[in-house]
Amino acid sequence: MSTTLSDLTTHFRQAFGGEPDFIARAPGRVNLLGEHVDYNDGWVLPIAIDRAARLAVRATGGETVALSAVDIDARVEFRLADLEAKVAGDGAALPGWARYAAGVAWALRERGLAVAGLQAALTSDVPRGAGLSSSAAVEVAYATAWQRAGGWSLAPMELARLCQRAENAYVGVNCGIMDQFASACGQAGYALLLDCRTLEWGPLPLPAGVAVVVADTMVRRELGSSEYNVRRAHCEEAVRLLAGPLPGIRALRDVSVADFRRHAHRLPELVARRAQHVVEECDRTQRAVGLLRAGDAAAFGQLMNDCHASLRDLYAVSCPELDVMTAEAQALPGCYGARLTGAGFGGCTVNLIQAEAAEDFRRELAARYERAVGRKPEIYVCQAAAGAGVLPDAAGR
Ligand code: GLA
Repeated sequence: MSTTLSDLTTHFRQAFGGEPDFIARAPGRVNLLGEHVDYNDGWVLPIAIDRAARLAVRATGGETVALSAVDIDARVEFRLADLEAKVAGDGAALPGWARYAAGVAWALRERGLAVAGLQAALTSDVPRGAGLSSSAAVEVAYATAWQRAGGWSLAPMELARLCQRAENAYVGVNCGIMDQFASACGQAGYALLLDCRTLEWGPLPLPAGVAVVVADTMVRRELGSSEYNVRRAHCEEAVRLLAGPLPGIRALRDVSVADFRRHAHRLPELVARRAQHVVEECDRTQRAVGLLRAGDAAAFGQLMNDCHASLRDLYAVSCPELDVMTAEAQALPGCYGARLTGAGFGGCTVNLIQAEAAEDFRRELAARYERAVGRKPEIYVCQAAAGAGVLPDAAGR
């Protein structure tokens, strides 16, 4: 059971005494298409979801940040002055869950923004390590809290970029912009299209009569972030090697499928497979935008299926449980498309389903997955939610 807003406020009172000033909320996300392309300057199609990190906050001023994590029953305090000029690794003295707050404070201060002490109680119903951006949700919630407490105001994309900087430089994961972007910029009822080079973005309507179903394999892989950084390094190597025959390319986004086929032989085999995924995924995402605008759920779903095969066979970020969940889903009535979502190595699949078939799909997929894998999955229909914000009073109304 997730913590309600009134439970969160009660927890705040018990932890710190008195009432919080406000509650900051930042959602997780699910990505429909454009996987492992954000750090290659590609295009992504995420949705902010109706699961979020929530922070009950009282601005205290001064230099002390006191945090209480409701879900894991842990507390920590740190001084903002101690964070100055510190980068990845130095935060190691803090428990992992508190490093997001410290990293965000560090990145905001580095940008010259007013960041002062606060007391905050955190809860989140975005499952951790499930590919739904639980970390980005927490980062964006802290940034939103410090924005409100500091009285300054940045565009949501700017806030997202500072949170990404916190994760890259302070937490030490070399992630792209997609997750923080979706959490900060989400729009209720819409998918988002982001060009990760120009950072231009806008809402895209979902086809009528479809439901987005998230299916959690309940498998978590610790190996995720180190493998992620290796994938990214391979992409950069591919760009270096392809820049000889294709001068002017800056990222794999600049390489067409035809050019890639012509020059792939210049790459070491493993690097070629990784790069092929990215080049073709950029192409798929470009085609998908027109299909979404035309409301063609079937053709869009086929691209999702192709994406999963590519993530499994070329990019090698799937796992047996994700493959079972995807294959079972694709065989069920009403399923337009199914694939792993997020970084991979465990976590969730995203499924585009005929709305009227969604309930049967959910039930049948759960039964089939449990039969095949021996684990109970968590499967739910999710709604496209608004991006981060502040709830005006402590009761969250
Ligand atoms: C993680 C990262 C994102 C993105 C995805 C893969 O969620 O945080 O930036 O690279 O993996 O698409």
